[in-house]
Amino acid sequence: ADLYQPERLNSRGWDLANRTDLNEYVAERAPFAEKLWRSSAITVRPVTSGTAHKIFNPAIKDSQVGEVIEADEKQAGEAIEDARIWDAPVVERAAVLRRAADLYEQHHGEIFALLAREAGKTQFDTIAELREAVDFLRYYAKEAEKHPEGRPRGIISCISPWNFPLAIFTGQVAAALAAGNGVLAKPADQTPLIAALATNLLHEAGVPLAALQLLPGAGATVGAAISGDARINGVCFTGSTATAQTINRNIAENGQADSLLIAETGGLNCMIVDSTALPEQSVRDIITSAFQSAGQRCSALRVLYLQEDVAEPFLNMLYGAMDATEMGNPWWLSTDIGPVIDQAAHDKISGHIAAAEKEGRLLKQLDCPDDGYFVGPAVIKVDNINDLDEEIFGPVLHVATFKSGGLDQVIADINGRGYGLTFGLQTRIERRIDKLTSAMKVGNIYVNRNQVGAVVGSQPFGGEGLSGTGPKAGGPHYLPRFFATSRPTMPV
Ligand code: NAD
Ligand code: ALA
Repeated sequence: ADLYQPERLNSRGWDLANRTDLNEYVAERAPFAEKLWRSSAITVRPVTSGTAHKIFNPAIKDSQVGEVIEADEKQAGEAIEDARIWDAPVVERAAVLRRAADLYEQHHGEIFALLAREAGKTQFDTIAELREAVDFLRYYAKEAEKHPEGRPRGIISCISPWNFPLAIFTGQVAAALAAGNGVLAKPADQTPLIAALATNLLHEAGVPLAALQLLPGAGATVGAAISGDARINGVCFTGSTATAQTINRNIAENGQADSLLIAETGGLNCMIVDSTALPEQSVRDIITSAFQSAGQRCSALRVLYLQEDVAEPFLNMLYGAMDATEMGNPWWLSTDIGPVIDQAAHDKISGHIAAAEKEGRLLKQLDCPDDGYFVGPAVIKVDNINDLDEEIFGPVLHVATFKSGGLDQVIADINGRGYGLTFGLQTRIERRIDKLTSAMKVGNIYVNRNQVGAVVGSQPFGGEGLSGTGPKAGGPHYLPRFFATSRPTMPV
């Protein structure tokens, strides 16, 4: 907390105007979230009645951030009816997306504040997220210009998760729009406010209202309505593997036969650390991979495989590094780890840790604040990846050991589990690097570094198997999937 110095923030160009209190800052632009939502409700999709959904700050349980009137299935149907492709030349679409990127940057103060308040993002994470969002806008604008012959598929439903409420929301929408499609954007139920802000900025930049409609609402109603509808030409989804499977079935039963489905989902991501790895570097990379963003990254490290010979001293070093991390209000500069997103996430992760403790497998857990949805980072002993039934989406690191000569079994176990998102390797043996980079069935492999934070344009991101359909976001194969091979049937 003592590192929080508004003057320093101002000197970095943040729009905080000597405010010492974030609540005051946001309240003065107020009712900030309410105003944002109203403007998008009026200009994007008039939702005049419906269920009011209150959004609370995950770091301060009773602090309300805003309220949205959620759309329902009927309004989703009307939005599909009103949707139009973006019938403008590619140079114009690209210019508008670049203008949107500029606007995002100009509004960084509001964006950082809202990411912290609505999604519990630390300052480090808010900056990374805004950078990724503007990178997506500029990257897909440039990619679209490489395909002047490309024609849009039609109307695309973009369904996004809460853990990157700006970057993934923007990436999906930007790609679909860059290719000239019309978009129905359904943000996660937990984070509609930041999506409303982004939508407003995209419209302000020049995206036509009918080419981008925001539809906040529940996944089971609005999400289902805009994915399994024969008038929809494709779904771009990021979220859990289970939801992707539900959407896939819905499209097969109710959608168009040639509907596009891009699904980017979860993982049981592993890292192997052998006895030649540099311990200090590995520990730093493990802390980042497992606990940054409170472990709420699809790319996050879930199972660490440590060579038995070095396991004990290595774990002691890891525990020391964990003790040096700080949990707390995500808006404080000193905070390394913020809250998890909501009560349901808190209870699920805590239940998993409690079960491990009961079985004598909890090796370490940090204390945490109790005024929000905080979960103290934990280390749990497992035999191997098959001990995990599912992705635990929080600050929980599972640790297994392997003997010298046991690496082939580890590779077989990881590949056999079926997920394939990220993989980390810490070793100084060149031959091993070559072997594992070709053996692992995953989308993104990171050697002697952390395994989160792929960079748009230079590190395309996406998985295989249960972790996603591909193509990788932020790479050259992504945008062409949003083009049609024949003329769209939607009205222009
Ligand atoms: P989720 O699957 O619960 O929800 C994602 C979105 O789907 C939300 O907008 C939700 O409202 C909607 N939805 C839910 N049910 C639906 C239905 N029946 N039909 C249509 N839409 C529906 O996921 P989440 O909890 O928001 O996000 C966390 C998950 O996302 C984790 O599993 C994480 O690994 C994954 N994720 C993957 C990537 C990636 O790039 N691979 C990136 C970020 C997050
Ligand atoms: N693209 C995000 C990462 O690499 C999910 O961490």
